[in-house]
Amino acid sequence: MTKVLVAYGSTRGSTREIAEWVGRALTGQGVEVEIRSAAEVRDVGAYDAVVLGGAVYFGRWHRHARALVRRCARQLAERPVWLFSSGPLQRIDREVTPPAGAERARRRIGARESVVFGGCLRPDARGFPAATMARTAAGDFRDPGRVETWARDIAYELKAT
Ligand SMILES: Cc1cc2nc3c(=O)[nH]c(=O)nc-3n(C[C@H](O)[C@H](O)[C@H](O)COP(=O)(O)O)c2cc1C
Repeated sequence: MTKVLVAYGSTRGSTREIAEWVGRALTGQGVEVEIRSAAEVRDVGAYDAVVLGGAVYFGRWHRHARALVRRCARQLAERPVWLFSSGPLQRIDREVTPPAGAERARRRIGARESVVFGGCLRPDARGFPAATMARTAAGDFRDPGRVETWARDIAYELKAT
């Protein structure tokens, strides 16, 4: 059975949830999935493919996602990898350019795709500047259906290879 790592860089949990949606959709297509924080992953040699996602903070792809690419660049370049970013606190109705860090990662490891999903900021977010931002920009702009469709396409591509 194909074994896929779904790794995420998330500060407030909403990107982790997207990773869980990806994992669930892949599992539904008969793929074996492991979901882990990118910060914990030291080696991806045990997986046939990797999905790596990161939240966007101040225009930067999450540091845990970037660090995983640095640590495991060679192994990642040897297997199919899909990247996602989660950020914009607005409804996404057109294609959004991924942050520079995700683009650099895509080029470095030859990732198949790099997409941007909407983000989520809870109205009760704590800490500065998140709490300040939440006063005007709070909301959940994630689209589970779009995430699921994307993950299913990954499963189809995996089956085809
Ligand atoms: C302080 C702060 C800065 C942010 N900066 C950006 C940004 O530059 N670009 C963007 O698209 N989203 C930005 N966001 C939105 C986050 O990416 C979004 O809330 C995301 O879903 C957070 O993921 P997490 O819950 O996994 O940490 C920012 C959010 C906060 C709180």
